[in-house]
Amino acid sequence: MLKINEHYSGLKESYLFTEIGHRVARFTAEHPERSVIRMGIGDVTLPLCPAVTQAMAGAVAEMGQAATFHGYGPEQGYGFLREKICAYYADMGVTLSPEEVFVSDGAKSDLGNMLDLFAEDNRVLIPDPVYPAYVDTNRMAGRPVLYINATEENRFLPLPDGDTQGDIIYICSPNNPTGAVYDRAGLQKWVDFARERGAVIFFDAAYESFISDPTLPRSIYQIPGAADCAIEFCSLSKTAGFTGTRCGYTVVPAGLVRGGMSLNKMWLRRQTTKFNGVSYVVQRGAEAVFTPEGQTQVRANIDIYRRNAAIITEALTRLGIWHIGGVNSPYIWLKCPGGLSSWDYFDRLLTGAGIVGTPGAGFGNNGEGFFRLTAFSSTDNTRAAMKRLEDMDE
Ligand code: MLT
Repeated sequence: MLKINEHYSGLKESYLFTEIGHRVARFTAEHPERSVIRMGIGDVTLPLCPAVTQAMAGAVAEMGQAATFHGYGPEQGYGFLREKICAYYADMGVTLSPEEVFVSDGAKSDLGNMLDLFAEDNRVLIPDPVYPAYVDTNRMAGRPVLYINATEENRFLPLPDGDTQGDIIYICSPNNPTGAVYDRAGLQKWVDFARERGAVIFFDAAYESFISDPTLPRSIYQIPGAADCAIEFCSLSKTAGFTGTRCGYTVVPAGLVRGGMSLNKMWLRRQTTKFNGVSYVVQRGAEAVFTPEGQTQVRANIDIYRRNAAIITEALTRLGIWHIGGVNSPYIWLKCPGGLSSWDYFDRLLTGAGIVGTPGAGFGNNGEGFFRLTAFSSTDNTRAAMKRLEDMDE
């Protein structure tokens, strides 16, 4: 008899951002006259930069000519893009070979798919609060999840101690949802921990381009020993506005071996079997991100989001609301005023000010009583939202 994957029955009915979408849709249907400013899901608002759209237009033209048409591409990604990504890492002092880089349709897919390489009875260690996809993808496979507490006391940057356990460890820095960023010493502790125990770190670097402090690591491979224990996931979604275009990359070091198997070779085997690669047009667009012209243009956009983050943190400071993040990160993590629960504050902001944020409780138990705002709105909307927030408080 057919058996379904019963682990799905243990999941919440809908994914966090789907649930928020439903609530906002209900509110706007009931109050069509109200304007709503969206600072919930971390979706960008600035368009793709000209270097990217020109490269994509050129690639579209190539696809329309028999002589330059491209059919199936390499599952791992075209060499022209993987080489550019290696050069990007070289600028951070990290040496990679193109064979260690896998182009994907985004970090979220690879973070979930990478679990194919690991047995189901591994213990997974996840910080709480956390990006919900880490937890849900493991629950879907029935894998036991252990949590490490990220709290106000440790500035939402937990470190391993003698009691910490875990075979697969998730670290996101700059962090989603808290905006907290590990320094080198903090990441070194995690790398040492993983190496001592033969564990593997899944390092989510999706927000690395928001780091402006040159002392902070943007890649885990800037930490000695990381190539022996870490897989890094990165994305052009937030860096270059690819949330709708879809392109990211994952680094699996050639020397990363567990159970006598090369994880790089396993991932290649997995991808060549289950994935047909990212489209040629999108990869040409992604390549343009890494050109000097593309870098100048995407950095100008990131600067706009950084200024938005400053507008938010300045308003919160004026209002006396505790917060972290917003520096080296597009996310601002605040404590709900008046001791409100996360979802009560969500309702209060939506009905009182027409602002959509993300309730901290949606990211885990330690997120209860906290709330996340993003800097990805337009600057006008960010200013308007903060004015509404200040007016609401009067
Ligand atoms: C978020 O808002 O947490 C992110 O946009 C979600 C994602 O990148 O999938």
